[in-house]
Amino acid sequence: QQDQIKQLAEWISNSSSTIVLTGAGMSTESGIPDFRSRSGWWNKIDPRTVATVDALENYYDLFHEFYSYRIKSLEKYSPHEGHEILAGWESKGLLDCVATQNVDGFHQIAGNKKVYELHGTITTVRCHSCNRPSQLNDFLNKENCKHCKGKLRPNVVLFGENLPEKSWMSSLNHIRNADLTIVIGTSLEVYPVNQLPTMTSGKKVFINLDISGPTKFDLTIKGKAKETLQLVHSVLNQ
Ligand code: NAD
Ligand code: APR
Repeated sequence: QQDQIKQLAEWISNSSSTIVLTGAGMSTESGIPDFRSRSGWWNKIDPRTVATVDALENYYDLFHEFYSYRIKSLEKYSPHEGHEILAGWESKGLLDCVATQNVDGFHQIAGNKKVYELHGTITTVRCHSCNRPSQLNDFLNKENCKHCKGKLRPNVVLFGENLPEKSWMSSLNHIRNADLTIVIGTSLEVYPVNQLPTMTSGKKVFINLDISGPTKFDLTIKGKAKETLQLVHSVLNQ
């Protein structure tokens, strides 16, 4: 694995356009469970029952309980050194942007400026009927929209909803032209984000605990996000 770390550090140094694509595995070392590992959310709750428009419209109590729990639990956790390393790489010009499926806002908190949230965020809410931005506390207190009395919801992409057009197109354009795409902590099971790594002509690296999934990567490092980023970072700083 040491050679793989050196290889990735070399590719990062020589790349003139690098993008990082992250998933839930980027935040598990901050304490937030991922979705599909044994300890993942979806093993306890069927995603189709809570992260869907149907749940929002027809089972609001369950939908509200799931998301208000996740929003409140965010207060307990914070980005780890792996997030901070990615922010440092952006400020040093080693990384152009981060595209993430995560909704915790940790890349921005750690200091990354160019972050594309492909699945939205649970840090802000809006009215599901009139789309007006609303107060997070109004959602947590299960209040209705102040303007039209509609249901409030986080700005997360629910199963079946379209991804935010701007985030999707920006990520797609960056990946298409990237010399180097580094995919970290995602099972790549969810469409259409799982198509992004197939759309680049540059080098592709996969850093993940479970590497049984996707194959077409130039370099596959079986490891934890934070630990692996720390190893690469120390080689870059030699
Ligand atoms: P799905 O099959 O219902 O959704 C397919 C997704 O692909 C939809 O978002 C759809 O808009 C999009 N899509 C379809 N064709 C496309 C195309 N040609 N180009 C671009 N986009 C296209 O269910 P799924 O694939 O299992 O999950 C889809 C969405 O649900 C994902 O965006 C996922 O992030 C979201 N989700 C979010 C959470 C959360 O808590 N953040 C939880 C569960 C699911
Ligand atoms: N370091 C590296 N990889 C990790 C770590 C870690 N510390 N912890 C977990 N992983 C790996 C797991 O092995 C798994 O392959 O990260 C991956 C997490 O995959 P998922 O749980 O499927 O999360 P993700 O890929 O982000 O899910 C995509 O599905 O439900 C929707 O919208 C939700 O954005 C989510 C999307």
